Formats: sequence, structure tokens, C-alpha cells
Amino acid sequence: MYRKTYLEVNCEKLKNNIINIKQNYPDYEYYFGVVKANAYGHGSYIINSLIEGGINYLAVSSLEEALELRKYNTEIPILILEPIHLEYLDKCMENDIAITVSNMEYFYELLTINLQKQLKMHIKLDTGMSRLGIKKSSELCEIINKTANATNLFIEGIYTHFATSGINDKHWDNQLEKFKEITQDVDLSTIPIVHMGRSLTLVNHKKIPFCNGIRLGIAMYGMSQSMPTPTGFKAFLRNLRNNHKKKKLHISPTTTTNNLDLQTAITLYSEVIDLRKIHANDFVGYGALYNAQKDTTIATIAIGYADGIPKGLKHVVINDKKYNIVGGLSMDMICVAVDESVKLYDKVTILGGEQLPIKAVANECGIRSYNLFTGIRNRVPRVYKKDNTYTEIKY
Ligand SMILES: Cc1ncc(COP(=O)(O)O)c(C=O)c1O
Repeated sequence: MYRKTYLEVNCEKLKNNIINIKQNYPDYEYYFGVVKANAYGHGSYIINSLIEGGINYLAVSSLEEALELRKYNTEIPILILEPIHLEYLDKCMENDIAITVSNMEYFYELLTINLQKQLKMHIKLDTGMSRLGIKKSSELCEIINKTANATNLFIEGIYTHFATSGINDKHWDNQLEKFKEITQDVDLSTIPIVHMGRSLTLVNHKKIPFCNGIRLGIAMYGMSQSMPTPTGFKAFLRNLRNNHKKKKLHISPTTTTNNLDLQTAITLYSEVIDLRKIHANDFVGYGALYNAQKDTTIATIAIGYADGIPKGLKHVVINDKKYNIVGGLSMDMICVAVDESVKLYDKVTILGGEQLPIKAVANECGIRSYNLFTGIRNRVPRVYKKDNTYTEIKY
């Protein structure tokens, strides 16, 4: 690395998150690690730490992502959550990668292919998200019957995806009912893996009895999704309203707090590459956005929006002290109003650590933690801390 801007990823923390999740929710056979989008920005390198923690299946969005994972582990089964072009099935069969079948046209085309090796597929059901998935029980039965007579095609899994948390809405319950309706003529126990939930399902709902798999994304990366019980009169009123709604709509009971002890594992660092004194009334940044009210010291930091830092970012930390970003974000640099204690080449924390926790920064920027994690660009090298050694990877 030449420019000292990098994302440090603590692999031990990720591993411990999985151990903690499994201790708290031990009743699944399959714990899928959702590692799409370069493992939510952490980088594919982390998969072996996830596996050490107890993840026994991985899920990604594309064949590219699946093959990238194979550079780091050749054994762990991988599911692609979106349909892939059928001309690339050989790569899936060679690399133990399962595909998703999500509509009949795709399935009929699949049946015309002469498969030379076993191909694993998971059938996706559309229970209310209207993106992907089989919607009718007759179609599901047709897939199952026709696959029974097809050479080398194997139904390994069936799944759906919940659109909401189900805490104050009926949509979650409706999706569960829809899943039951579509699968009514199917003996689910004959399908090895039935997986419906994501992190929120795990923590907010009782285990769905016929599911033996859970797909973990954001929780694995350190977000427990536990919501402290709000206090105050407004919260009291909101609670009353929600309870009334839950009763009226027969929304199934949920839990909003949990005992998970999870930690985020990333810290984004950069450095001071320039220090200058400006006078009262001088301007900083594009559009002369910032007009200094008094003589000020400006530190220029080697990171910008092209590295994925969000527009609303307000502070950085230098030598344990928080400073304000001034003059907006440039593509590759930001300016910070500092004091005399800051020196050239000082290390700067942009995100993470005690003073800039991911969730708080995301809230402050008006975005979700998902966007913050996945927004960090690949031009930022990742540095992995594992067993007190550091490994640098540029994706
Ligand atoms: C199909 C599917 N399953 C599971 C997940 C993981 O979700 P979460 O990060 O909320 O646990 C995702 C994430 O987008 C997904 O698309």
C-alpha cells in the first residue's frame, strides 16, 4: 500500500460473532453466511474466519462472487441467490456452487441441458417481495416432479426472503402463510435445506419449525438488531398504537431485544497528508463551501467520496479527538478543522472504533449500516488482523 488509506478488518471479532450467534440460536443445521457484495464490504478473505466460527454454507449474488470465494476456500458449499445464465452451469458443477431456480421459463430451459455432473439447485419462492420466485403450488410441484426424472439435477434447498421485520406489520406473517400455501402439497422433510430467514428473522421471531437453515448477513458483521425499549410519553403512545394494531391484525408475537454480544469488525483509516493555516474569511473546498469564521488549521486527509465515504459524514478522529469535516467531500480528499496537536502523517480514523461506531455514523448520515458497509470501495485496500498478523489484500 502506498497511500495510507485502508480498511482494517478484525477477523477474530467476526469469528466470535458467529460463535455468539450459534450459542444464542443453536437450533439450525445450516448457518448460511451471506457474503455477497464482497462480504458486505469486508472482503472475501474473511470467509475462513466465518467458517471457523461455525458458518457451514455461503450465499452470494453472482457467479463472479462465488468464484472469487473459491480463491479462499474450495470446500464450503456456495449458493447463488440470483439466477445465473445457463451457459455457465459447468462452472457451478465444477466448483460445488448451487443455483437458484426462480421461474418456470428458467426451469424449462434448465431441463433441456445435458448435465454431465450433479447440479444442486435451490428453489426460490415468491411469498411477497415480488422480485424472484415461484408463486404457485402447481408450479412448485411440477418442478419437483420433473426434477425427479432429470439426470444429475438435485433439489438441495427451498427458500424465500422476508421483506419486513414483522414487528409491527402483518406482511411477515402473510409471507409465512404464503410459503405454507405454495408448499402445501410438498413434503418439506424430503428437501435437505429449508431456509427462510435473515438476521432480523432470527432475532425477532421464534424459529419456524420446518426451517433448518438461516441466512445471516448484517448480524454476522456485528449488528445485533436489538432495540432498546423506548421510554417517554411519545414512545408510550406509539406502543399503545402498535399493540392495538398487533391485536387487530393478529400479528404474531415478536421479540425486539436479544442477548447477542456482537461487535463490528471494521475500522477505516487514512492519514493527514497536508496541514495549513487559513485566516478568518478564507474558504475551504469545492464551491467555497466553508467560510472560516476565525484563523483555523486545516488538515487534508487522503480519502474522499470515491473511496465510498458517505456524503453526510461529519467527523473524523485523530489521536482520540473528534474533529469536524469542513468544506464537503472531494473525490479523493477531505478537509478537517483541527488544532495544534495534529501533525503531518497522523493516522485518522474515518469510521469505526469507539468514537465512530458504524450504526451511529450510518444514522448520522441518514443511511443504513448495509449501505455504509457495502459502500466502501475496492480501491481501499483491506488489511486483515488475524492471530496477531496482518494481511493486506487489494480486491
Ligand atoms: C436472499 C437474502 N438472504 C439473506 C440476506 C441477509 O440479510 P441480513 O443482512 O438482513 O441478515 C440477504 C441480504 O440482502 C438476502 O438478499
